[in-house]
Amino acid sequence: MPVVAALGAQWGDEGKGRIVDLLAQQARMIIRSAGGPNAGHTVINQLGTFRLHLVPAGIFNSEATNVIGSNVVVDPAVLISELEMIAAAGVTPGKLYISDRAHVIMPYHIQLDQLEEQAKGEARLGTTGRGVGPAYADKVNRIGIRMGDLLHEETLLSRLTYVLEQKQRILTKLYGVTPSVSLHETYLQYLGYGRRLREYITPIHPIVQRALEQDAPMLLEGNQGALLDLDYGTFPYVTSTATSAPGLLQGAGIPPNRLNSVIGVFKAYTTRVGAGPFPTEQEGSLGDELRERGKEYGTTTGRPRRCGWFDAVLARYVTEVNGIDTIALTKLDVLDSMKRIRICVGYKLHDTELDYLPSTPSVLNAVEPIYEELRGWNQSTSHVRRFEDLPEEAQTYVARICELVGARLGMISIGPERDQMIMITKVF
Ligand code: GDP
Ligand code: IMO
Ligand code: MG
Repeated sequence: MPVVAALGAQWGDEGKGRIVDLLAQQARMIIRSAGGPNAGHTVINQLGTFRLHLVPAGIFNSEATNVIGSNVVVDPAVLISELEMIAAAGVTPGKLYISDRAHVIMPYHIQLDQLEEQAKGEARLGTTGRGVGPAYADKVNRIGIRMGDLLHEETLLSRLTYVLEQKQRILTKLYGVTPSVSLHETYLQYLGYGRRLREYITPIHPIVQRALEQDAPMLLEGNQGALLDLDYGTFPYVTSTATSAPGLLQGAGIPPNRLNSVIGVFKAYTTRVGAGPFPTEQEGSLGDELRERGKEYGTTTGRPRRCGWFDAVLARYVTEVNGIDTIALTKLDVLDSMKRIRICVGYKLHDTELDYLPSTPSVLNAVEPIYEELRGWNQSTSHVRRFEDLPEEAQTYVARICELVGARLGMISIGPERDQMIMITKVF
C-alpha cells in the first residue's frame, strides 16, 4: 500500500495528528497537502506533547521526509515558531520541504478574516481567525503571494505593491481601518521570512515523483474534516478549501490512480467547532460530559467544542464521497462510563425519512435524528491492546459503526498516547 491518505471524516479534530504520528513511523514521506494554521493536530509521543498547525505530524520520524504541499496556505510566522518549538524540545526532526507553490497568509488576510466575521454578525461562521479564508480567496482571485515569491526580491515587491494597495483600500473604505504597516515594512518582514525558510522552500514535484517511482510508503495527512470541505461539506459553514481525498492528492501533486487506500479518521462520537448544523448535538449535561471526558477544547483557538452522538448518516456519506476503505476510530475510551450510547442511523424530516445529506443548512438544521441505542460497557478500555480484549458491548458498538459506515476496521484508539492503540489492519 505505498500511498495512503488519512483524512478527517467528521468536522475536524478527529485525531488525525496522532494517527499520522503513529503511521509515519513506517512511512518514508508524509505530506500535509492543504489547509493552513487553522488546523491544530495534537501529537503525544515519547518526545513530548506537540500541537502542530502547519508542520506535518510525520516530523518525529527523523528518517522520513515531510512535505508542506501546494494547496497549503502558510503563515510564515506560525511555521517558524512551530519549527522553533520542535527544536527547543530537542527533537531530531525528519527532513522538511515546503512547496514553492503554497500561498502565503499575509497580515491583511488575518485582519480581513476577523473584520468579515464581525460584519456577518449573527451569520458569522466562527472561523479560527487565522486568515485562511481570505488567503484562499486571493489564490482563487490570482493575486496571492506564494512561498516561492518570498525568495525573489523583485517579484515580491511588485506583487506586494499591487495587492497591498488593493487591500488597504478595502480596509479603509469598507471597514474604516487605518493600515498600521507600510509597504516597505511588510516587504522587509516577508523577505526576512523568505531568508529564514529558504532551505525548505522548493518545487516539490521532483521530490514527490522520486518517492512515487521508488514505491516508497507515503502518507497524506488530512486537514480539517470531510464535512468542512468547500464543495461537499456543510457550506457555508466550512473551511475555504478541499479537505477531501482528491484534495489531498491535488495538494501533493500525486495522480489519483496512485492512491492505494483511504483511512477515514472518525471520533467515536461527533464534535464540531464554530457555527453550522449539527443534527446529533447534545447541548445539555450529556454534551458537557463528552466535552469534559474528551477534553474537547479547540487545539488552535481553545474554544469549547460542540459535542454529540456518532452520526452514521454523515459518516456513510463521507465514506462514499472520499472512497474511505479503512476506519481509524478514535477516543473510544471517552465513552467508557456511558450507560447508554446512541448512534444516529437516519434522518426524519416532517415524517419523511431522508437517505441523503441535505445541502441546505436550514434543512439539515430541521432534520430529526433517528437513533439506535446500545448498551455501554462501564469499564476502562485505555489499557486494552487487542480487539478481543475489549468489553463485549464496546466490540458491538465498534462493529455496528463499521457496518453502518461501510468500511473495514483499521485501528481503534483508547487514549491520546502513541501506544494507546488497537491495531487491526496493516496499513503499510
Ligand atoms: P486533529 O486535529 O484531528 O489532529 O485532532 P486534535 O488534536 O485537534 O484533537 C484530538 C484530541 O484528542 C487531542 O487532544 C488528542 O490528544 C486527543 N486524543 C486523540 N486520540 C485520543 C483517544 O483515543 N483518547 C483520548 N482520550 N484522547 C485522544
Ligand atoms: P483540524 O485540522 C476543527 C472550522 C472553524 C470554522 C470553519 C471555518 O485541527 O481538524 P476557517 O478558519 O478554516 O476559515 O474556519 O472551520 N475549522 C476547524 N474545526 N478542526 C479544524 O482543523 C478546523 N479548521 C477550521 O472552526 O467553523
Ligand atoms: Mg484539530
